[in-house]
Amino acid sequence: MNVQFDFSGRHVMVFGGTTGINLGIAQHYAMAGARVSVASRKQANVDAALATLGAQAFGVVADVRDEQAVGAALAQAVACHGPLDVLVSGAAGNFLAPAEQMSSNAFKVVVDIDLLGSFHVARQALAHLRQPGASLIFITAPQSTVPMMYQAHVCAAKAGVDHLARVLALEWGARGIRVNAISPGPIEGTEGMRRLAPQGAEGDALVRSMVPLGRMGTTADIARLAMFLGSDAASYISGTVIACDGGAQGQLSPMVAAAAMAMPKQD
Ligand code: COA
Ligand code: NAP
Repeated sequence: MNVQFDFSGRHVMVFGGTTGINLGIAQHYAMAGARVSVASRKQANVDAALATLGAQAFGVVADVRDEQAVGAALAQAVACHGPLDVLVSGAAGNFLAPAEQMSSNAFKVVVDIDLLGSFHVARQALAHLRQPGASLIFITAPQSTVPMMYQAHVCAAKAGVDHLARVLALEWGARGIRVNAISPGPIEGTEGMRRLAPQGAEGDALVRSMVPLGRMGTTADIARLAMFLGSDAASYISGTVIACDGGAQGQLSPMVAAAAMAMPKQD
């Protein structure tokens, strides 16, 4: 595929950027010449990610639930690579659980990572975002608009992420900051699919059958959209939630069924 972006000299930071979809985004920006920073909770994940991101990449341990830690991570990244041209907020947690079996803390932990964490990242980053010109990208999910069984926590949290993006686009537009969200469809080989979809060849076939384009997405599919939104080509795009899902959002009732099938049988 011949899609080329040039982010030479630009600083791109990805929260939750050490595995899966978000690491794919960081890797593609690095391949396009960006100075990349990544942050997540586990030192081992940060180290493994850095090994794939090139010598100039910067990595730091931070839990997005801890606003001070997020601020410190941003300060270190900016000291290393300069003001932020692109900021991606993609840290998330998920597990399947029926609402009646979800403790208050189980609901809260996901809201704290996905929604409150996104707010921490955005709020702490504001002073470091290039103004005008920065692009802030949240990673949301189809759960933000499609109710899915056993995911009350994620549905509530990601709905909040969509609206957070829209509100920040209103509030920060005058500073020349664009704010958008990407909603990935089923992305192959990711932790999200391992946790939420039925596994094995039959499970894969079921998921593929829900996607009009007939395949699961790749981390590269999402990374290319993230690069577009971070680039000057998207200079008039703000306040949007963009699906990158092979057309699946029009076909989501089977996805609801798939989540139900992935859930272990209840007594
Ligand atoms: N079913 C029901 N409750 C669960 C659960 C499950 N499968 N997994 C965790 N919980 C509950 C715990 O019991 C706990 O509640 P309690 O205090 O009432 O017992 C609460 O959730 C917090 O769990 P804990 O393990 O302490 O959280 P953590 O901060 O260590 O980890 C998670 C956060 C639970 C979201 C963990 O799954 C994670 O780190 N996920 C990141 C990776 C991921 O989910 N990737 C996919 C992205 S789509
Ligand atoms: P993943 O590999 O588990 O990615 C989650 C990342 O967030 C990891 O790097 C993890 O690293 C980090 N993280 C988790 N909790 C954190 C915290 N409290 N503070 C800081 N970092 C934290 O999952 P994925 O499947 O690629 O999903 C990535 C994003 O895409 C998520 O926002 C998800 O909702 C969204 N999404 C995924 C799919 C899919 O098909 N997979 C579909 C739609 C949307 P540490 O463990 O080191 O913290």
